[in-house]
Amino acid sequence: MRVYSLFLLLFLLLLCSRADAFFGHGLVRCQFTSLEDVVYVEQYYFSKFLLIQYNSTLGKFTGYTERAIDIADGLNKSPDLMRQEKKNEKKCKSHIQSVLDLLSKSVEPSVRLRSVDAAGSKHPGMLVCSAYNFYPKQIRVTWLRNGNNVTSDVTSTEELPNGNWLYQIHSYLEFTPRPGEKITCIVEHASLTGPKLYEWDPANESQRNKIAVGTAGLLLGLVFLVIGLIYYKKNNAGQVLVPTS
Ligand SMILES: *[C@@H]1O[C@H](CO)[C@@H](O)[C@H](O)[C@H]1NC(C)=O
Repeated sequence: MRVYSLFLLLFLLLLCSRADAFFGHGLVRCQFTSLEDVVYVEQYYFSKFLLIQYNSTLGKFTGYTERAIDIADGLNKSPDLMRQEKKNEKKCKSHIQSVLDLLSKSVEPSVRLRSVDAAGSKHPGMLVCSAYNFYPKQIRVTWLRNGNNVTSDVTSTEELPNGNWLYQIHSYLEFTPRPGEKITCIVEHASLTGPKLYEWDPANESQRNKIAVGTAGLLLGLVFLVIGLIYYKKNNAGQVLVPTS
């Protein structure tokens, strides 16, 4: 889709560059307010000055300097290029629905509550409540201790963009573990029908650690088994080559 535009940009650069300190750039925009009102725009700049622009509403290139007007006229007479621009406009329109779908949807966060080392803290313990891969950005992560809101010793990151429209956030609670205490992380988000509670369970964590160690051991065993099998096969294959009178 972009090949034509890149050629065009290079062509313009070659036409315009004389000294070494010039700078050209192209801008492709797919603008819309609704599915019916879509404009596909290609703009070609040279040293920040707009030289040529394609606007799908007009269906043609427009030049903004004497020379650029000549070039635009030439481009408008190329059926191949015009066909390509129509294709680009179509592509722009067809992608809008998926963008609108994404904007209207919400994606539920996956939440993980775990303890980490609290280095340099006046409290020996620290819990992290992490919400991953949610959309839209707005979210609320709060804490309860024995059913009461916790406001002090809580810090949080911003909503961090993953770069794929989804976000993550991490809320930290510094605390001194006391037996029988109930600590809960609450997540509120548009994707949820109500606040979702995640209760801290220290036993659960040690259980998880045991499972992790067990799994690692099992994997190591499997690796040795496979290596053993490979050796066994190799040796057997070697024996086949020996003629058995
Ligand atoms: C494209 O052309 C239409 C119709 O002339 C105009 O309303 C619109 O502003 C133009 N868009 C751009 C980005 O120049």
